[in-house]
Amino acid sequence: MNKKSMILRTPLIVRFCHWCMVCLFILTALSGLSLFFPSIKLFGLFLGTPQLVRELHPILGCVVFILLMFMFLKLAHHNIPNKDDLLWIKNFKHVILGKERGIPIGKYNVGQKFLFWCIMGLILVLFVTGLIMWRRYFADNFSVPVVRIAIFFHSLAAIGLILLAIGHAYMAIWVKGSIKGMITGYVSRAWACKNHSTWYEEEMEKIYQEELKLKAELKTEQATKPE
Ligand code: HEM
Repeated sequence: MNKKSMILRTPLIVRFCHWCMVCLFILTALSGLSLFFPSIKLFGLFLGTPQLVRELHPILGCVVFILLMFMFLKLAHHNIPNKDDLLWIKNFKHVILGKERGIPIGKYNVGQKFLFWCIMGLILVLFVTGLIMWRRYFADNFSVPVVRIAIFFHSLAAIGLILLAIGHAYMAIWVKGSIKGMITGYVSRAWACKNHSTWYEEEMEKIYQEELKLKAELKTEQATKPE
């Protein structure tokens, strides 16, 4: 891979966090489903006995929450809606047909931004309701109706997040080059220009400014060099 023709899209720490979170999310989702549907033994098998699953599920959930909050801090500013997003929505038909060239798109498009806020909102609901339901530590502090309401919203949010995660993974496969970008951190300039034109222009401007600065430094260095 020639890094000169590539652009850094996702730093190592965010990539590491994302893939750890994905593995733990799968374990949390499967263990949660095994508690919800105890008759389907397959869901819980990989974590051991049902008792162990019950102990591990909330701990795994907390780690997923912390990892997602870290991603939130790193990525929230790229996911703030702006006026260019309206153009993306208006031209949604073209986007679906893969003809998004010419539509100004920042680091993340409207679909990704929407998904980002839904994921963050749902994980917050799961975390808060999960704490209320956590028998070992907290559930005794709440009345039975409150715990029941928490269980209801925990289940709804879990189904929502699992469906969103499946949709997100599908979209990542659909847009060729994005999974490679999330693994290596780099995307090609052509990919960036096609899928995220505004972000591409901003990155190219940064590279251009850095080159100018480097040239200026080189010039002053040569000028101050003794003969
Ligand atoms: C096998 C499953 C998954 C795959 C293949 C996948 C793939 C990706 C890729 C390729 C990106 C970068 C998109 C880009 O650079 O444009 C990304 C970003 C992201 N992923 Fe995943 N992902 C998976 C599962 C998950 C799960 C389970 C969650 C959380 C529940 C998640 C949350 C995120 C978030 C929050 C971002 C940042 C997006 C943004 O800031 O708008 N991913 N993922």
